Amino acid sequence: MSIFRMALRSCRLSSQSFCAAHMHQDFRFFRQMSMDAQSIAAQLNTSGIFRTQGLIGGKWTEAYEGNTIKVHNPATGDVIANVPCMGKRETSDAISSAYDAFSSWSKLAASQRSKFLRKWYDLLIAHKEVLGKLITLEQGKPLIEAMGEISYGASFIEFYAEEAKRVYGDIIPATLADRRLFVLKQPVGVVGAITPWNFPLAMITRKVGPALACGCTVVIKPSELTPLTALAAAELSLQAGIPPGVVNVVMGNASDIGDTLLESPQVRKITFTGSTAVGKKLMAGSAATVKKVSLELGGNAPCMVFDDADLDVAVKGSLAAKFRNSGQTCVCVNRIIVQEGIYEKFAKAFAIAVQNLKVGNGFTEGVAQGPLINEAAVQKVESFIQDAVSKGATVMLGGKRHSLGMTFYEPTVISNANSEMLISREEVFGPVAPLIRFKTEEEAIRIANDTNAGLASYIFTTNVQRSWRVSEALEYGLVGVNEGIISTEVAPFGGFKQSGLGREGSKYGIDEYLEIKYICLGNMDRA
Ligand code: SIN
Repeated sequence: MSIFRMALRSCRLSSQSFCAAHMHQDFRFFRQMSMDAQSIAAQLNTSGIFRTQGLIGGKWTEAYEGNTIKVHNPATGDVIANVPCMGKRETSDAISSAYDAFSSWSKLAASQRSKFLRKWYDLLIAHKEVLGKLITLEQGKPLIEAMGEISYGASFIEFYAEEAKRVYGDIIPATLADRRLFVLKQPVGVVGAITPWNFPLAMITRKVGPALACGCTVVIKPSELTPLTALAAAELSLQAGIPPGVVNVVMGNASDIGDTLLESPQVRKITFTGSTAVGKKLMAGSAATVKKVSLELGGNAPCMVFDDADLDVAVKGSLAAKFRNSGQTCVCVNRIIVQEGIYEKFAKAFAIAVQNLKVGNGFTEGVAQGPLINEAAVQKVESFIQDAVSKGATVMLGGKRHSLGMTFYEPTVISNANSEMLISREEVFGPVAPLIRFKTEEEAIRIANDTNAGLASYIFTTNVQRSWRVSEALEYGLVGVNEGIISTEVAPFGGFKQSGLGREGSKYGIDEYLEIKYICLGNMDRA
């Protein structure tokens, strides 16, 4: 069994193969496409960006064996589209196309690549509304959040269009008088980008933006659950004039695609956002060909509310950090650790705020919480709550499936949680907020760091010394102080410990796609 296949088995929420040829999915919820979805699909169709084939060497391509995967709207169960279920052969061809395109794309002047990226950014923004609807349709998040993701996702293309012009090398003072020493930064080559369903656009652009900016070419494997946004973005890359083969998209049999990317010596870099289990396997699988690897893996974000916190700021911030995308982000708060002096007040105010979150179809006005991505996600939430209650926690609010059915879940607050519960040990990836009580700052730091994860963390305090002291003590790549939403294209995103390797976004993000070359000019004193 391939390591990629083993990884997928070990990770319940990882993308799975849904090829029609060996489909065994539960179609309890299957219905004809609703009128709403039909009209959105029609709008997408006329926009020219509703693509349902893979992209290989600039050509829209079906799976060679004709297999397809159904893409569902998680809010209704409707089938939105059939996309090709690709595997090893299509991936090999996509790699070859990217490899061929690399020689000319990498030789363009940085300013030329910059212009292509800028054009792509402009097109993404020009299609913001329709792309936002596409995300809501296939991923389920509320339309307002989906539109926010388009701006966020496009911002990486804009940022790296500019950063393309700033890939500076160095001149190093030599230790011998007749030598001149230089450092060049060069693109690593073909990049395999494996991306998740929770941010169908932004997790692609955060990788592809810096890759293309410095001269790499890419083979993207989006999640089989949300491939349509990736295909629409790829269509816009072609419309922006980015040459065929620079951006390729394959989807389908995740293990076959993953293995092909790993095994190919032409792929020089793997970049992945997803579960820690799959990330470890990709890291191991990259060893045979010694690829560069960057990994954005799972988190277990603590949110620390100190007695001296501004209550309103703490409630608003933790609400945003917990319930963004219905709790389905790697930086979502997983544990709210509250000091005993403010615990009761915070718990009450927080539960009231959570109760006000409207659950429903992401297209409905005012909805703040969409469905979870699939049945497995709901079952995970249920099992974590069951475990917490069996170990002494109390459900203050929610704690059950929403009356809307499907994969809608009631926003949930749990009190009296502790570090022994599954919900404190692992990422719940759903709309459940466990409250843990603490006494001292040292205890809060110990609880916060008591995990193998180290992606995002949050602190609420009005004491500036404490905010600095605790920020330094946290073993996390991101710290939000009195703020719940901190991701931005201009700051580095990435984790400590088992939350990953490397950074995305910001000036640091482009280094992940560059090789450093040292050049020594000798005998420079000769005429
Ligand atoms: C993620 O969940 O992996 C990304 C979240 C973000 O970019 O803020």
